Amino acid sequence: MKQDTNKTAAVLGLGMMGATLAKLLLESGYDVTVWNRSADKSAPLAALGANVAPSPAAAVNAANVIVMCVHDYAAANAILSQTEQAAWKGKVFVQLTSGSPAEADRAEQWTEALGAGYLDGAIQAAPQQMGRPDTPIFISGKAAAWEQALPVLKVFAGAPEWLGTSAGLASSVDLATLSGIYGTLMGFFHGARIMENAGYPVDKYATLLTGILSTFGDFIKYEGQLVHENRFTKSESPMSISVDATARILQQADDAGINRAFPEYLAGMFRQAAEKGLANEELSAMIKVLRG
Ligand SMILES: NC(=O)c1ccc[n+]([C@@H]2O[C@H](COP(=O)([O-])OP(=O)(O)OC[C@H]3O[C@@H](n4cnc5c(N)ncnc54)[C@H](OP(=O)(O)O)[C@@H]3O)[C@@H](O)[C@H]2O)c1
Repeated sequence: MKQDTNKTAAVLGLGMMGATLAKLLLESGYDVTVWNRSADKSAPLAALGANVAPSPAAAVNAANVIVMCVHDYAAANAILSQTEQAAWKGKVFVQLTSGSPAEADRAEQWTEALGAGYLDGAIQAAPQQMGRPDTPIFISGKAAAWEQALPVLKVFAGAPEWLGTSAGLASSVDLATLSGIYGTLMGFFHGARIMENAGYPVDKYATLLTGILSTFGDFIKYEGQLVHENRFTKSESPMSISVDATARILQQADDAGINRAFPEYLAGMFRQAAEKGLANEELSAMIKVLRG
C-alpha cells in the first residue's frame, strides 16, 4: 500500500527533544515509528500509540518522512550507517540534530546520493516550547524536500522558517544567533560582577538591564541594515564612543580586581577599530575589523 507522506513519520533519537517531537506527531494523528539507542525510552511513546522499530533500518523502512534528533552528527552518522541505502529512495530526511554547516552539507550529499531529499533544521526552543504557533525553527535545504516535509514541520512549529536551498544555512543561523546570545550573556555576567563589587543586588541589575535590552532590538536592526548596505558614515552611534566606553570597562575591572578576560576582548576589538582609522565612523564599521 502506498504510504501517505503527510501522515507517516519516523523519529530516530528519543532524548528530551526527539521524544517531544514524536509525541507531538502522535497527537496530530500521525502513524509514528520510533527508534532509540537505549530501548527503554521507546516505552512511553509505545503507550501513546507509536510503533517501536527494532533497528534504525526498520524505522526508515516504515515512513516517508524521517526525523532525526540526537546528540550530535557523530551519533547521527553512526545511526545512519545502520540503515539500508535502498530504503531511502523518494523519502525526505529531516535532520534536527545540532551541528555545523559543513556537517549539514555532507549529510545532504549522502542523502541525495541515495535518492532522498534532505533538510537541515535548527530548533531554537526548549522541548516544552515545541508545537506552538511561534516556536522558532529554522530550516534549510532544497525546495522539493521542504514541500515534502512541511506538514511534519508544522506539527513541530506553527510557522517554521525556510531559509533557503543551501543545507548549511540553518546551522549558520543557529551559530550566529547563539553568538549574539552568548555575547550578551557574558556581558551580563561581567556586569553582575561590577554590581556585586558595588554592593548592588544582582537581581535588580538583571531587571534594569532587561529594561534597556527591550529597546536594543531596534538598534541592532539599524546597524544590521547599515552593514548589509556597507554604510559606515557616522549617523547614530560613533565608534569613538565605544572605544572609550570599553577602555573604561577594562580599567574598572583592573581597579576592582574583576576578571579582565571579557573587557580585554571588548576593548581590544574597539582599539583595533581605532587603529584602523574607524573611530570617526558609525559602529557598523566594526564589521570591517572582523572582515580583516
Ligand atoms: N533539549 C533542548 O532544549 C534542545 C533545544 C534545541 C536543540 N536541541 C538539539 O537537539 C538534539 C538532541 O537534544 P536532546 O536535548 O534531545 O538531547 P538528549 O536528551 O541528551 O538526548 C540525546 C539523544 O542522542 C542519542 N545519542 C547520543 N549519542 C548517541 C550515539 N552515539 N548513538 C546513538 N544515539 C545516541 C541518545 O540516545 P540514548 O537515549 O541511547 O542515550 C538520545 O536519544 C541536540 O543536537 C540538541 O543540540 C535540543
